[in-house]
Amino acid sequence: ADEPLVLGIETSCDETGVGIVRGRTLLADAVASSVDEHARYGGVVPEVASRAHLEAMVPTIRRALRTAGVQASDLDGIAVTAGPGLAGALLVGVSAAKAYAYALGKPLYGVNHLASHICVDQLEHGALPEPTMALLVSGGHSSLLLAPDITGDVRPLGATIDDAAGEAFDKVARVLGLGFPGGPAIDRHAREGDPAAIAFPRGLTGGRDPLYDFSFSGLKTAVARWVEGRRKEGLEVPVADVAASFQEAVADVLTRKAVRACKDHGVDHLMIGGGVAANSRLRAMAQRRCEDAGIRLRVPRPGLCTDNGAMVAALGAEMVARGRAASDLDLPADSSLPV
Ligand code: KG4
Ligand code: ZN
Repeated sequence: ADEPLVLGIETSCDETGVGIVRGRTLLADAVASSVDEHARYGGVVPEVASRAHLEAMVPTIRRALRTAGVQASDLDGIAVTAGPGLAGALLVGVSAAKAYAYALGKPLYGVNHLASHICVDQLEHGALPEPTMALLVSGGHSSLLLAPDITGDVRPLGATIDDAAGEAFDKVARVLGLGFPGGPAIDRHAREGDPAAIAFPRGLTGGRDPLYDFSFSGLKTAVARWVEGRRKEGLEVPVADVAASFQEAVADVLTRKAVRACKDHGVDHLMIGGGVAANSRLRAMAQRRCEDAGIRLRVPRPGLCTDNGAMVAALGAEMVARGRAASDLDLPADSSLPV
């Protein structure tokens, strides 16, 4: 096959991910997560993440190669998340990628984490039309991106001005005593609740507010106040109703702004990625609102929405296929890489 065989390494947060793709075909997606080690702190602890990446890196690379049934010497390139992310965590992946690239004599491709969250959808739904509109929502970011070229030109239209959407899920889950990470727990409890039970605020949706920016900190505070109020009065907290009403507010704002961005920019499809894209209510609401607006929705399966190595390999393979320049071996890990 002349489609590029690429190994991708992702260590921007708490998942050590190694993926292998041939063109747009996924061959292996090995993930080692340190999420359990962070659970007792209620959030990701950078030092803990770096150490866990260091321990998991080589075994995860070996596991991916074994699963894919390919030899490292057959690779056409090694791609790695260069940023944005936790500095120490990124450094582990970038150093490993350089070592393998140098030892094997393969080209190295440093990729942007957010661009790879977009590109991963190609593994599931085929080539992305360009320009692509993407809503990326995770524990670390909430952005609306317009990508004329997914391998090199990804433009932020808007982003959260305070908490990321996933962060809001995690904080509200903590208020409700549901543990970390909170998104999946809230999603589960919300199924038994009434999304119209409590009218929580929709941030930055006023007439004079920025069109594509998000704000979730006010929503988080509103939920915390509401729950505290109930407890002070000695009343039981209706966890399912709070979860459903909070989730409804997040999904409403995200889908409203994403559809608006598609319409404003004449883009007829929307890609949603990041860990929060796994949210069942967000998916359902986006599906309905996109259909109403004549927009085709593309959401990768949950395992590809959260951080993983396959997305890095997918973007790397796209770069190889398009003849993009490889990175130098002095590629820096850049925690504040834009987008
Ligand atoms: O993309 P990701 O794995 O890591 C980064 O933050 O980059 O996203 C993790 C975030 C967490 O905040 C988690 O609570 C959230 O995604 N999440 C969800 C769901 N599954 C994961 N949020 C809402 N509903 C879900 N089903
Ligand atoms: Zn991510």
